[in-house]
Amino acid sequence: MSTTILGIESTAHTAGVGIITSEGTILSNQRSVYIPEEGEGIHPREAANHHSEELPKLFKKALDEANLSSKDISLVSYARGPGLGPCLRTGATAARAFAYSNDIPLLGVNHCVAHLEIGLLEGAKDPVLLYLSGANTQVIAYAAGRYRVFGETIDIGIGNGLDKFAREAGMGFPGGPKLEKIAEGDELIDLPYSVKGMDLAFSGLMTAAKQKLESGYSLGQLAYSVQETAFAMSCEVSERALAHTGKTELVLGGGVACNSRLREMAMTMASERGVKCFVPEKALCVDNGVMVAWLGHQMMNADYQITEEDNVVNQRYRTDMVEVTWR
Ligand code: ATP
Ligand code: FE2
Repeated sequence: MSTTILGIESTAHTAGVGIITSEGTILSNQRSVYIPEEGEGIHPREAANHHSEELPKLFKKALDEANLSSKDISLVSYARGPGLGPCLRTGATAARAFAYSNDIPLLGVNHCVAHLEIGLLEGAKDPVLLYLSGANTQVIAYAAGRYRVFGETIDIGIGNGLDKFAREAGMGFPGGPKLEKIAEGDELIDLPYSVKGMDLAFSGLMTAAKQKLESGYSLGQLAYSVQETAFAMSCEVSERALAHTGKTELVLGGGVACNSRLREMAMTMASERGVKCFVPEKALCVDNGVMVAWLGHQMMNADYQITEEDNVVNQRYRTDMVEVTWR
């Protein structure tokens, strides 16, 4: 029997409500992004206020677009971490209110795992995920009952690094797409390339880029060089994860995976290794409620038993804390 699942995302900048059927048909993907004031980073409390104002409207828009009423929803799934405390609590409160008032089961899921599972909807079976977002930079794959983090950033997330450099260069938020637009040239400016074993560091790269900008290098060429360097680092670690695990599929996820140059580099690396590369559409790469709904469905479909802990938010809910019982 076909069922419909509603997913709620609120871990950071994005408030999202998505609806998907148990067959994987997306019925609605409503999103609203909190944009900090010019020159500022994200204020968790303000982002949470944004989400509490937007979520009720997003519920309505999603149900209207899907042409459903709340009684047609069989599961409410929300991202219970990792993320910013106030944002997580706002999403959890909205999820509880909607689920309990309509007598629908409620499940809190891991945001990073949701980014991976949506790649499976694209057709991947057992991929390595290159997950590049604002706060997170991880190379993840399934091994022995869990999604293991094979490599990750040891300082800042790649997207936050791009946003910071863009902000220092006088561009607004989000910086990643703005840098992509102005990236030009084919002459690589030398910047720190920091791959440490399977881990990555972006802070020194962004600081060096800022210093070069101040000393007169062109912003377009720096944007190009920052992208080339940061994306090459990310592809190198993904390639090594593919080699170590012997897996033959690569999935891209996270907001930075919207970048055309990153997509091109990842696809080149994959095709040279004989690996199939899955690139979800942009609306599914960025934070969204659909991926949260889909993960909730995968878990419940495999008779996942909800515990009390599943409905408590966890700011530091790491990818590898989740026992994967649904594969
Ligand atoms: P998470 O909680 O997973 O860290 P997030 O809040 O950072 O999520 P996402 O929507 O996954 O949200 O990613 C946002 C990031 O993606 C921002 O840092 C933004 O600059 C970056 N980004 C979006 N589009 C592009 C692009 N075309 N090129 C580079 N970066 C991009
Ligand atoms: Fe995300």
